[in-house]
Amino acid sequence: MADQAEIQDAWTAIASAYDDYVTSSNMAVAERALRRVELRPEMQVLDVAAGSGALSIPAARRGARVLATDISPTMVEQLEVRAREEGLSNLEARVMDGHSLELEDDTFDIAGSQFGVMLFPDLPRGLSELTRVTKPGGHVLLVTMGQPSELEFLRFFIDAVTVVVPDFAGLPVDPPLLPFQVSDPERLRDELAAAGLMDIQVETTNHRLEFRSGAQLWDWVTASNPIGAELVADLTDQQQAEAREELDDKLTERSGGSAPAVLNNTVNIGVGTK
Ligand SMILES: C[S@@+](CC[C@H](N)C(=O)[O-])C[C@H]1O[C@@H](n2cnc3c(N)ncnc32)[C@H](O)[C@@H]1O
Repeated sequence: MADQAEIQDAWTAIASAYDDYVTSSNMAVAERALRRVELRPEMQVLDVAAGSGALSIPAARRGARVLATDISPTMVEQLEVRAREEGLSNLEARVMDGHSLELEDDTFDIAGSQFGVMLFPDLPRGLSELTRVTKPGGHVLLVTMGQPSELEFLRFFIDAVTVVVPDFAGLPVDPPLLPFQVSDPERLRDELAAAGLMDIQVETTNHRLEFRSGAQLWDWVTASNPIGAELVADLTDQQQAEAREELDDKLTERSGGSAPAVLNNTVNIGVGTK
């Protein structure tokens, strides 16, 4: 298992591309998740593994008082830039490891993590920290990716690479990669219950992603997680270029020739009450 410094470095290395390609597209999921917890102005909201603000920024736009935390200082800086550009003075961002939050018990109305705690090496500890800092009666919100087979962005990517490199291994499945440890909604429900939460609701919904070119989908996947870039690290430049062309063809087929192509991806929105 990678140590925390390695994890921090891996995310910092892709932080700029993440901010460019991924954050905005994740805001639509966050909007849906925030509706599930009935976010109101002035509520105290914690976002763990906030990246450059896909959940925090929409929460702050609605008037909540938001503390955004992430292990990568670069992600935090980018989040601060976004908040400044939007004039969101109700959002503070701090570098923090979600496995051990430097925060008081019973502080937040909502403690959430979108595509964050789901990939922690010690997910139960991340969830128990979210629960600890939530006020009694407040909500813990966890947004997670669905199963790999239900993620079209991933299937398109792997299929395109496999056309170019027929013996491409694809995603390791046994054991599943950490980002998929709670991709099964029932497993997510069990983890929320194990953290001591009540009235657990898990909604499975569609994260609709639009792509205008193979290059855009390539950038999205390789920027969305260090695993994305690692998957294709051994491909030559020529093979990568050919895979992007394959992706172009697949996207054109999906869109019927009028961009953008829409890809459907399952995500789970889990909510529990403390
Ligand atoms: C897939 S991104 C999700 C970002 C954002 N929540 C979103 O929805 O776009 C995962 C984030 O988790 C952060 N992260 C990874 N391990 C962490 C840890 N132990 N504590 C805090 N943040 C962590 C990474 O730096 C990265 O910003």
